[in-house]
Amino acid sequence: MKTIDTVTGLRIMVARWRANGERVALVPTMGNLHAGHLQLVERARKNAHRVIVSIFVNPMQFSNRNGGDFERYPRTLEEDGKKLSAMGYQPDIIFAPSVQAMYPAGFKQEARIEVPEISNILCGEFRPGHFVGVATVVAKLFNMAQPDVALFGEKDFQQLLVIRRLVADLCFPVEIIGIPTVREKNGLAMSSRNAYLSSEERERAAVLYQTLQQAQQQIESGERDFAMIQAQATAKLSEAGFQPEYFEIRRAQDLQLATDMDEQQVILAAAWLGEARLIDNIVMESPD
Ligand code: PAF
Repeated sequence: MKTIDTVTGLRIMVARWRANGERVALVPTMGNLHAGHLQLVERARKNAHRVIVSIFVNPMQFSNRNGGDFERYPRTLEEDGKKLSAMGYQPDIIFAPSVQAMYPAGFKQEARIEVPEISNILCGEFRPGHFVGVATVVAKLFNMAQPDVALFGEKDFQQLLVIRRLVADLCFPVEIIGIPTVREKNGLAMSSRNAYLSSEERERAAVLYQTLQQAQQQIESGERDFAMIQAQATAKLSEAGFQPEYFEIRRAQDLQLATDMDEQQVILAAAWLGEARLIDNIVMESPD
């Protein structure tokens, strides 16, 4: 496993692989790797001859409203490298560029990619500009690494849809694979931001997933008053000490408001607990 921090270095390696007809997978991350990331790497390994894990804390996707979030985001390159080397099948490359290497012209002046409709709702409403930052850096990573396949976690369900849309609309020749959320024993979705929770909050954070499961049960047992389910869930989260941003039942395909006609629905929530902004979701089949 090699760590590369320049785009030229990455391109040289990828060009060699491609000349041998090898299939290349990219696992984009912001580091501080947990079991969820390692599962993406394992799946990537099954899907391609070569695996690149990118580790880059992308300044462009942190909005000002989250003040300080970019600076305090955990940067743990050394430990991340150890975790990846300890895997049965190590990735071939860790691509860990500097901000300067990723944004030579400074990230404020860069061309940017917008996927407006799906980016401005839910998380996008609370984190203005976030998905422009995500879409732009992912497009850059695709151009740099030229992968055949890229893998993302379903915990960031909205992000996954933004990326699928970006790839379809701009004809990137990259297959996108979504991997189910990996959870702690108590149900809490694994996330780098869980590092901001105290041990007591980590236990209490399980209420977020429990609330999603409860809403799922209500829908599965025939409840159609989505507004009522959402209001009950939000109240439950507030009682447990969360500050909910949203709790929504949406159409899975495009995150528009759910109706009885939907093939698939998703229940999504975002809520602050202490210093951590937590997101989670449950994708469900329509009961009809
Ligand atoms: O999900 C993440 O870690 C990031 O949003 C991503 C996709 C690596 C882009 O910076």
